[in-house]
Amino acid sequence: MTKEEIVKLLQQDMRDEHQAIIQYLGHAYAMPEGELRCAIEGVARDEMRHLDWLADAIAELGGDPSMERTPPDLTAGTPAEQMRKNVGLEDGAIAQYRAHVAAIPDPKIQRLLARILNDELAHHDEFEGLTHLAETEYAAEPAAEPAMPKQPPPRVAAILNQGIRHEYTVILQYLYHSFVAEGKEMAEELQNVAINEMQHMGWLSEELAEKGGVPEMEHTDLVLTRDPEEALKADIAVERKVTNDYTSQVNELADEDTRSLVARIRDHEIYHEAVFADLLEEHEEEEEAAERAEAAAEPQPERLEEPKPAPPTIPSIGSLIDKH
Ligand SMILES: [Fe+2]
Ligand SMILES: [Fe+2]
Ligand SMILES: [Fe+2]
Repeated sequence: MTKEEIVKLLQQDMRDEHQAIIQYLGHAYAMPEGELRCAIEGVARDEMRHLDWLADAIAELGGDPSMERTPPDLTAGTPAEQMRKNVGLEDGAIAQYRAHVAAIPDPKIQRLLARILNDELAHHDEFEGLTHLAETEYAAEPAAEPAMPKQPPPRVAAILNQGIRHEYTVILQYLYHSFVAEGKEMAEELQNVAINEMQHMGWLSEELAEKGGVPEMEHTDLVLTRDPEEALKADIAVERKVTNDYTSQVNELADEDTRSLVARIRDHEIYHEAVFADLLEEHEEEEEAAERAEAAAEPQPERLEEPKPAPPTIPSIGSLIDKH
């Protein structure tokens, strides 16, 4: 099996982890606050770690981490129905990881996939237990709902969904930039911001779901580049744009809670722009220093290769005498 073939299998695993993350989060946001929602979010966090490990393994093989996703099942359903869908998704993951462990003859990758498989087996059992919980404790909930389901004002739903799409987009974009980053500091900073954007996506989604709306878990265009300068410039631009959007939207929101939530997120975005600007400055300084070092180092090897000029000959007394 070639490296390219291994990368292809791991990219498939990444797409499926991405699917699981979004499917579980979509279900969690739509559920009432409580044990079930917490448990599903916990599993989604495990899947995010898997995504990260798979991306690192792909990058180490010289491949390109995939930010695509297999379509998640986000259709509405009772908590018990959603949990059964998720048990099914884990079944599929277990079968696929088993197949990939058997197919990939690289011990390090086999170890990684076996480690992930271990989690998926635990998720499967956890979801089965939660299905039972949903069938018993959560079964009575829909009947308790008012006859007319509540709905958010359309403009509020539009603002929150625009925010959700933005947050989802930058999560993927920053994760990719962190996966392909060469420096450790750059990778860590980008990942920290991506984690903060995950919180934003969660807060906005829960806010919308609480108002009876449905979070749209779709993203817009991603700037996927391996060039650090290009990446950071795109990241700064998107932060600046969303800061402006949130700032104007805050004034449109009448509900005090929603308003302060969006204002708080906007303040984080201002901070993110500063973090990226610092990273860009450091990167540019490093590049300049590297260029200077290269320029300083350049003439030396040439000098070494040049024939050494003969030392000036000091005429000896004898030679002077001989010449005459
Ligand atoms: Fe997973
Ligand atoms: Fe954000
Ligand atoms: Fe941000």
